[in-house]
Formats: sequence, structure tokens, C-alpha cells
Amino acid sequence: MEEALSSKFYITTPIYYVNDIPHIGHAYTTIIVDALARFHRLLGQEVFFLTGTDEHGQKIEQAAAKKGKNPKEYVDEISKRFKDIWESFGISYDKFIRTTDSYHIQTAQKAFLKMYQRGDIYKGEYEGNYCISCEAFFTKSQLIEGGRCPDCKKETTLVKEESYFFKLSAYQERLLEFYKQHSDFIFPKSRYNEVIRFIEDGLEDLSITRTSFDWGVKLPSEIANKDSKKHIMYVWLDALINYLSALGYENESDDKMEFWPVNYHIVGKDILRFHAIYWLAFLMSLELPLPRHIAAHGWWTKDGAKMSKSVGNVVNPQEIVNAYGLDCFRYFILREVSFGQDGDFSQKALIERINADLSNDLGNLLNRLLGMSAKYFNNHLRVDIQAFKAHYKEELESIHKILMGLELLMQEVQIHRYLEELWKIFALANGMIAKKEPWRLVKEDKMQEVAELLVFIANLLIKAAFCLSPCMPKTAKEILDVFNIPLESKHYLEFIKNNQIISEMVLMPIMALFPKIETPLLEEKQIKTQHFITKEEFSKIEIKVGTILGAEIMPKSEKLLKLQVDLGEERERQIIAGIKSYYTTQELIGKQVCVLANLKPAKLMGELSEGMILAVSDDDGLSLIQPQAIKKNGSQIS
Ligand code: ME8
Ligand code: MG
Repeated sequence: MEEALSSKFYITTPIYYVNDIPHIGHAYTTIIVDALARFHRLLGQEVFFLTGTDEHGQKIEQAAAKKGKNPKEYVDEISKRFKDIWESFGISYDKFIRTTDSYHIQTAQKAFLKMYQRGDIYKGEYEGNYCISCEAFFTKSQLIEGGRCPDCKKETTLVKEESYFFKLSAYQERLLEFYKQHSDFIFPKSRYNEVIRFIEDGLEDLSITRTSFDWGVKLPSEIANKDSKKHIMYVWLDALINYLSALGYENESDDKMEFWPVNYHIVGKDILRFHAIYWLAFLMSLELPLPRHIAAHGWWTKDGAKMSKSVGNVVNPQEIVNAYGLDCFRYFILREVSFGQDGDFSQKALIERINADLSNDLGNLLNRLLGMSAKYFNNHLRVDIQAFKAHYKEELESIHKILMGLELLMQEVQIHRYLEELWKIFALANGMIAKKEPWRLVKEDKMQEVAELLVFIANLLIKAAFCLSPCMPKTAKEILDVFNIPLESKHYLEFIKNNQIISEMVLMPIMALFPKIETPLLEEKQIKTQHFITKEEFSKIEIKVGTILGAEIMPKSEKLLKLQVDLGEERERQIIAGIKSYYTTQELIGKQVCVLANLKPAKLMGELSEGMILAVSDDDGLSLIQPQAIKKNGSQIS
């Protein structure tokens, strides 16, 4: 599949939602892209590496409301958290885009207008279900049991509103045709069929605007002026366009469109469909060339469990890096799972990798080289190059062969295989030490042979360091510093492509790399402590079923609604509930809910509240608790 190397190389991460702070999943995608970007810089290409944050939509609006902040203030704060962590990780991005940036908004509006003028966008009415967590629409038949989202299994909300639609159905055949002709478009290749199947199942037109909230990109004035309702762009349309606005497409920022088409969009498997189908159709509508590849990686869990804020088991990558070091973390996540497969994070697995691969295979090798060079040669190694090449012919050839195979692995985004291959080189070196027994050679005073062995190891480490540098930049530089060789593309080409060998060198000793780790360096967070109550204690709690008969906005409050609830008593109860950001008053009327009925009455913002409506919230918002079937008002929960 080797592609001709063009000088420009464009690669992207998804832009992350700012409803949550960065965790190991975001770090994973970003580090993969960082490794690929660094690799292509080594090859001498001009790289444009884009990352950023996705800041519009209902989910963000709600997350801000939950924190009692206005959306802009909130997104500024969380976006900075992403920028800061990438800064501290030395991520080599070229641009950090925010969808609230004005040049992006300009591009999104221009693109919308183009698609509209082309006849790919029309006005209609959307009726179906919306999953706020996935920011995605589903038809009735796509929902799973209980009307929940087929992707994340969370509750969806019924939406019926005027909407603009994108004629996705009109692109079904072209998409299929494209995929049939580009069977290596998606990595890993195993995901290709999944995409084809999705298209073959039939594509429905996509609702691409919303009217029921306003945290989003407004439609271009040419269209908005004709509307009585205020539409904003569907957050996924807005978000995908970031890949173009960052290059200056249809906006006044620097024009970098010569980087288009993108070489790789790297995404998690959760959002492959948006990229592999919707994005391609939008690009076809804009008459732009299509991306060269999309690569989708798998999902990280923690100690076998899904990570979630409410469980409290979210892995904070900064903590791991502070404790174990950046390169150890990078190595672990890139090596531990096959690209595309799911992976599990545990300190145990991390420590095993560090001790076996980094400490034993790599760290020890460098230590032995440095130790013997200092002890026997005062750090100055010199051999006759012809004799050396002749004695190590076979080994040098095997190494060169392994190294020449690496580029293809990187192009197919098989980073775990890339590292696995690279480690074969260290195994070869360690094997040579065991075989040659340099301590015996020293005793026999065969110092020239010892020097050759050390020169062999040095050359091998130099070459390996170049190839390691995309994945472990700091370690690679430390190794190359020993030999006083700069980590630069031109030297990579000399040592790897031209297979240059050096026969004389002065080594600069450094501290041992990767000391062994005996016990976990981080305390495991206590997950959920159990607190027991007796049946008697529970029986003091009166939870009753009731129906909301009235709901009103409280003008002075951002969060509160005033509800009238029928609890099967002679008069309705007034309950003040902090659910304004999640439900409209209209939606609430007629809903059956569960109420803590014997809560001591209290005044909230001057209004009496006689009970509490029960609800549950998680990372993605809040949902009321309801009996599974309608029950008589006043029935008690036991
Ligand atoms: O989907 N394991 O943003 P998002 C592995 N804004 N990767 C994970 C992960 C996990 N447990 N959790 C998150 C969005 N990721 C949209 C994208 S792009 C135009 C718009 C990574 O914040 C993975 O890359 O939900 C996943 O695709 C991405 O974060 C989703 O980030
Ligand atoms: Mg997500």
C-alpha cells in the first residue's frame, strides 16, 4: 500500500467535547496522533497536526448550566484544561482549534450555505428521538428497549421541531462506490465491513439544525433571514467542519488548504460513523477531495470497568504521568493494545510493561553499553569499519530489514506492531551479549572483539532511538545525546534509510533509564464506600408516585421550576425543583414522577416547596425517576 510521499502531511484528532475534563481516552488519541505526526516529520514531510475542542451543543449547554456558569465562561475554562494538558505532555500540535473561534464559525456558515445552494439542504420537520450524550438522532426503530440510545444506552428525548435536513440519502450510492474502490481507507481494515453494512442498511436524510436551544452556530444570514424560527447548526456538522476551518477554508485566516485532503483522521470507534459516512457526504456536497484514511481505535477501561465520573474511576492521565513519567505512559498505551482493540488500564499492567520492556530490554542494554565502554575503553570506541561490517554482516542485515519494515506499519497505524518489531532489535542485541560473553573476551584479552560488540550495540541503539522517537521522544533524545547525534530528519534518513554505520565514537554517560518499579506509585482511589441502613430506617422515608399538573418558570432563577403535583391527596402540592436546564415546562406537564413526600417543607427563593422530585444524574445530564407503568397517584414506593 506504500503511498508516494508527498511533502505535505495533515493529521487530526477529534475535537473533544468540553463537557468533561481530559482523561486517558483523550490522551490516547492525542498521543497516537502525536506519534504519527512526529514519524512523518522524521520522514521529512511538512506536517500539520490539528487538535482542539468541540464547544457547542445541548450537552455543553447543560454541563455549563449544571455548574451554574454561562456557556462561554464554561467552555473557556475547560478548553484551557485540554490545551494545558497537551502543553504539559509536549504534544507537538500545530494548531488548537476551538469551535467557538470566529474563523471557524465563518467557515461553518459558508459551508452550510454552499451545501444549501447546491440543493443538498431542505427544510422540513424532524420527529424522532435525540440522545444528548451522543448528540445524535435516532428513529424509533433504532432505539433499544425503553426508548434508549442504541450507542450509549442512555435515555433519549423525543424531539419534534422544524429542522433543516441534509440529503444524506442522495449520497448512498456514491459512498458505497467510494468504499468499494478504497478498501484500505479505514484502519484497522476489520472496521471496513461495518461501515459498508451501515450504508447498505440505508441512509436517511440527516437533521442538521435545531431550534429548541441556542448554544450553537447560527445559520448564514442568507438563510436565517428567511426563517421565522431561530435555527442553530447541529453540533456534529459544526464539529466536522473544524477540519476545514483550521486550514482557512472559506475564512480569512491563513490559507493552508494545500494540506487538504487530510492524510489521517484518527478517531475512537465511537465516532467512526460520523467520520466515515456523514463527513464524506458533506465533503462530496462541498465538492472537495475526500480524506486519504480514517483510523479508529478501541476503548479504554479501568481495571476491567467502564470509566465514568459517577463511579469515580476515571483515569487522570496527568496523575499517571506525574508518577510514572511521560514516556512510560506513552509507551504503555501505544504498545499495550493492538490498534483498534479495546484496552484495559491498570497500574499492574503498566508496571509490568515498564519493568519488562523498558527496564530490562532497553534500559539494561544501554547501561551495559555505557558500563563496558567506560570500564574498558574510557568511553572512546573505535573499530575498523570493514572488519566490523564483515563480522556483523548477518546481524546488521536483520536489523536493517526490521527497520525498513517499520514505515509500512506506521502507515497502517499499527503502532503496537511497530513497537513490537522495534523490540526485536533490542532482543537481538541482548542475545548477542549473551552469546559473545564480553566478560570472557575481556579475560582472554580479546579487546578488539569487545569493541566490535559495543560498536554494534551502539549503532543498533542509535538506529532504534530514531525509530523510537515518535513514540518516546524524550527517551530517544537522551539515547542520541549519548552519541552526540541530533534528533533530526536528515540524520534519520542517514541512519535508517541509508543504513549508515559509525565505527568511532565518544560516549557521554547518562543516568540509568527506567529503574525497576517494585510497588504501585499511586494510591488506588477508593471506589464508592458502602453505608448500610436498616429496614426501619428506610420505612421512615415516604416516597410516593404523583403526576405533575402544572409547571412554571421562576423568573429570577436560572435553575428552578415551580411544579404543582398531584399526590392523591385532597390538594396539590407545590414543589420547587432544580430541573429547568433539563426539561421544558411543557414536557413536564402530565409526567408521572416519584416524590419524597415527607421532606420537611422549606422556602426556596421565596416559594414554599413541599417535597422533592427524585431524579438521577450522571456525566451526561439529569433524568427524572418514573414508575415503569402508570400507577395511582399517592401509591407509596417500598
Ligand atoms: O465525540 N477510550 O468528543 P468526545 C478511548 N466532540 N478513547 C476515548 C475514550 C475511551 N474510554 N473516551 C474518549 C466527541 N475517547 C466529538 C468529536 S470530531 C469532529 C467531534 C476519545 O469528547 C476517542 O478518540 O466525546 C473518542 O472518539 C473521543 O475521545 C470522543 O471525544
Ligand atoms: Mg463522547
